[in-house]
Amino acid sequence: MLTIAFIISSLYLLATTAAPFQPESKGFKIALTKRATIATSYQGSVDPSKMKGHLAYTTAKIESGFDVYQRNTGKVHPLAGNRTMRKRSGHPLSLQDDDGTLWQGVISVGTPPQDFTVDFDTGSSDIFLASSLCNMYCAGHKSYHAENSTTAKNLFKSFNIEYGDGSSVAGLQYSDSVSIAEVTAENQTMGSAILYSSGFAPDEYPPDGLMGMAFPEISEYNANPVFQNLVAQNKTEDAVFAFKLAKTGSELFVGGVNDALYQGNFSYTNVTEKGYWQVNMDGACVAGNRTSGNVSAIIDTGTTLVVGNTESVRAFYAAIPGSKEAEKSIGSGFYTIPCNAIPDVSLSFGGRAFNISHETLSLGPVKQGSQDCLGGVAASDDQDYWIVGDVFLQNVYTAFDIGNSRVGFADLA
Ligand SMILES: *[C@@H]1O[C@H](CO)[C@@H](O)[C@H](O)[C@H]1NC(C)=O
Ligand SMILES: *[C@@H]1O[C@H](CO)[C@@H](O)[C@H](O)[C@H]1NC(C)=O
Ligand SMILES: *[C@@H]1O[C@H](CO)[C@@H](O)[C@H](O)[C@H]1NC(C)=O
Ligand SMILES: *[C@@H]1O[C@H](CO)[C@@H](O)[C@H](O)[C@H]1NC(C)=O
Ligand SMILES: *[C@@H]1O[C@H](CO)[C@@H](O)[C@H](O)[C@H]1NC(C)=O
Ligand SMILES: *[C@@H]1O[C@H](CO)[C@@H](O)[C@H](O)[C@H]1NC(C)=O
Ligand SMILES: *[C@@H]1O[C@H](CO)[C@@H](O)[C@H](O)[C@H]1NC(C)=O
Ligand SMILES: *[C@@H]1O[C@H](CO)[C@@H](O)[C@H](O)[C@H]1NC(C)=O
Ligand SMILES: *[C@@H]1O[C@H](CO)[C@@H](O)[C@H](O)[C@H]1NC(C)=O
Repeated sequence: MLTIAFIISSLYLLATTAAPFQPESKGFKIALTKRATIATSYQGSVDPSKMKGHLAYTTAKIESGFDVYQRNTGKVHPLAGNRTMRKRSGHPLSLQDDDGTLWQGVISVGTPPQDFTVDFDTGSSDIFLASSLCNMYCAGHKSYHAENSTTAKNLFKSFNIEYGDGSSVAGLQYSDSVSIAEVTAENQTMGSAILYSSGFAPDEYPPDGLMGMAFPEISEYNANPVFQNLVAQNKTEDAVFAFKLAKTGSELFVGGVNDALYQGNFSYTNVTEKGYWQVNMDGACVAGNRTSGNVSAIIDTGTTLVVGNTESVRAFYAAIPGSKEAEKSIGSGFYTIPCNAIPDVSLSFGGRAFNISHETLSLGPVKQGSQDCLGGVAASDDQDYWIVGDVFLQNVYTAFDIGNSRVGFADLA
């Protein structure tokens, strides 16, 4: 029985304060910090290059997981579609454009423990940190010293994670202890990166590394992610972790759900294919009218936007009076909505509609003083599924249930 919760105080914009200790019946809390949002990061309006880069990175990240899935399982991922027909973007876009999507918190690795900040990402499955041997874009990040950890084991395997948009991470695989707050996964396969691409430079990517929280099927290491290892080692009460992602009080809860952070019941939806957190989404609604139906959706804390296929996103904006395509001002796949008449929209899961607030749907004016605001739902030609990121997730409390292979959404308390 786990009886202690460790809280690291959360402050917006990377500020931190001392960590108070609080008892909790079960599970552990990790407070999360978030950088400035994309909307406010650029002189009070949306930064077009960041938005384009983020969309490219997101779709590339998900697609690269399909390749890993095929390698690990020997099966083509059901959402992969006809990949040979896909065109890749002609020029690399780096992770630097991923600004504003990082929900980061502190973990410790090794014996004695070395502390790192990582981005908690339910849209991937591998954990990596900058190694002490990495000196290009790793400089300024805290680096992992395997040689100083008595529990570190060199697995004599390399790894190379390519996101398909030009960003990549490569290095050596180790096994070591990884602790989230009070719980420790032993013999955790992790990446010690010798090469970070430019987008991982600290000014673009503040955390030291990334911790993937999806399923082993899309693990480049073909190994259990940290949370599955905790469960396998009986370190958690429940095989569940949960996120509150919001402007303040963001938190990752490990080993259950934090009852203080939601109200009412969860609406659960089964994972349809283990790999990503992939579920059926019943549909999207604008002003109470359904604009698209049942479709596969990947629930991804590592993505800012909600990204749908071209047709259903076109139908979504067609139902919003005053909305316009923003291909010229921002990029292909983006739309604007009137800043002064933001519609009521929702996504439905498990038979229940969850609202997207006006504040999270609008990413801000496309130009300073403009009456057109960028919509947080964007389209990608390359996919028949949706990727559901922060624009939606900031409106709900989300439980990722490994034990029952399902995702639960509840209203925030
Ligand atoms: C995929 O694309 C190739 C090349 O055009 C085509 O020959 C093939 O029929 C397509 N497969 C499917 C399943 O659509
Ligand atoms: C790790 O060990 C090296 C020597 O191998 C030492 O210089 C360094 O200070 C150590 N770092 C930490 C974080 O303990
Ligand atoms: C981790 O590996 C060590 C050495 O191989 C082994 O003794 C230990 O039992 C392992 N721990 C777990 C939880 O598997
Ligand atoms: C975890 O608990 C289960 C059931 O209580 C037990 O069968 C299993 O051996 C335990 N695993 C470890 C690593 O302690
Ligand atoms: C929550 O679920 C319980 C048991 O299924 C039910 O009795 C209760 O009415 C539900 N509450 C709400 C607000 O839906
Ligand atoms: C979800 O999966 C569980 C088994 O894991 C099954 O009992 C349940 O009926 C499924 N729910 C739906 C709505 O398909
Ligand atoms: C949604 O589509 C999936 C398969 O595409 C199907 O299994 C499921 O029953 C559908 N759900 C609803 C509510 O129609
Ligand atoms: C929504 O549906 C209602 C009734 O079916 C209709 O009157 C209204 O025009 C629709 N709104 C939009 C934005 O399509
Ligand atoms: C969702 O939005 C609708 C308006 O579109 C409103 O009537 C409803 O109360 C909202 N639901 C919640 C749970 O806030």
